[in-house]
Amino acid sequence: MDIIQCTAIAPSNLACIKYWGKNLKVKKELNLPINSSVSITLDYNDELKTTTTIVLSKNFKKDRLFLNGIEEDDGCYNNKRVKIVLNEMRKLCKDENLKKLNLHIISENSFPTAAGLASSAAGYACMVTALSGVYNIDFNNNIKELSMVARQGSGSATRSLLGGFVKWNKGIKDDGTDSYAIQIAKYEHWKEMEAIILVVNEHKKEISSTNGMTDSVNTSLLLNYRAENIVEKRLNEICEAYKNKDFNTFALLTMKDSNQFHATCLDTYPPIFYLNDVSKSIIQLIHKLNNKNIKYCYTFDAGPNAVIFTLKENTQNLLNELLKIYCPSLSDCRDNPKFNYVRGRTKLTRDDVRNQLNSLSTPYQGKISYIYHTGVGKGSRILSKEEEKIEGLADKNGYPKKYNN
Ligand code: PMV
Repeated sequence: MDIIQCTAIAPSNLACIKYWGKNLKVKKELNLPINSSVSITLDYNDELKTTTTIVLSKNFKKDRLFLNGIEEDDGCYNNKRVKIVLNEMRKLCKDENLKKLNLHIISENSFPTAAGLASSAAGYACMVTALSGVYNIDFNNNIKELSMVARQGSGSATRSLLGGFVKWNKGIKDDGTDSYAIQIAKYEHWKEMEAIILVVNEHKKEISSTNGMTDSVNTSLLLNYRAENIVEKRLNEICEAYKNKDFNTFALLTMKDSNQFHATCLDTYPPIFYLNDVSKSIIQLIHKLNNKNIKYCYTFDAGPNAVIFTLKENTQNLLNELLKIYCPSLSDCRDNPKFNYVRGRTKLTRDDVRNQLNSLSTPYQGKISYIYHTGVGKGSRILSKEEEKIEGLADKNGYPKKYNN
């Protein structure tokens, strides 16, 4: 069968100065933010990535979307954002024959979807990158345009196309043509920057970021004050800090901005609670560990999971402290004691951890399900044909190799 295909991988990213709030005065589909934001792109080599294979064929009767081996209802037509991304990518494609073909989008996340681990960022960035491959749109020469398409899928996705430290400029035009991501520093610039992600709850979040943002924009005076008076100054300061590798300033701004974002959630009416008691205990622990000088900083997105940034020299110490308090006890998870409790750059099973620790008992034992150890990484990219043979998700007919339906 005649098929054209391309596979891409994309990283997740974590915002240090948060995007929270859509500009409700412009066309909704443009997905424009009320403030600019910056994030660190995570390393896709550490088990936190999306892989997407796009297949085009004249034999396909309609566009179809397969997420983690399951087909989405009604192909792509049900999912408004996927539809917008597809339309925009077809507009960018110069080849009339290619854009007429129906396609299959086959996508897999290596981490929990919609649990506040920025899965939509990696997902839409990956889709756009793989589509640029099948539509012959040169990725590097069109990064600005592609970043604007990704934005229409999910705001944070606009930042996952690029590696290192990335800023999404909100722009001032109502048509969104100046709202895209730019790279502030390459991933090589501060390779010592590492991230520890604490999965407190991997279930789907209760209030989606889109609904949460809309409620916040409509009801929180604090959010609107923040967007108008606080964010720009913070962005300038944190970009300087990152360029100068000034961890102290970087960390202070990251923690304060996370706290302010969650304060705007509390200021929303009715209030939104993304943090839970475990999240709060992590915040307290970090401040305790930072007693003399700042070595660690936390940030939380729209969920209870914590991300802690630190420099490589301090990671081991942090992991030790966390494991003592949060690792499940021997009697927990009896069914699967060998599962990887720490993943990514450090790999430890629950049993490895318990064997190293004395039989401690704390109120928070087992409250962190598992941990990722990762760091700053590169942006999304198209896989070579050789890599695609191993990592591609489509079989020879253009259907998912893993099909759960
Ligand atoms: O891209 P969305 O719509 O999932 O929103 C992301 C919102 C935050 O993760 C909380 C902040 C951010 O800048 O990524």
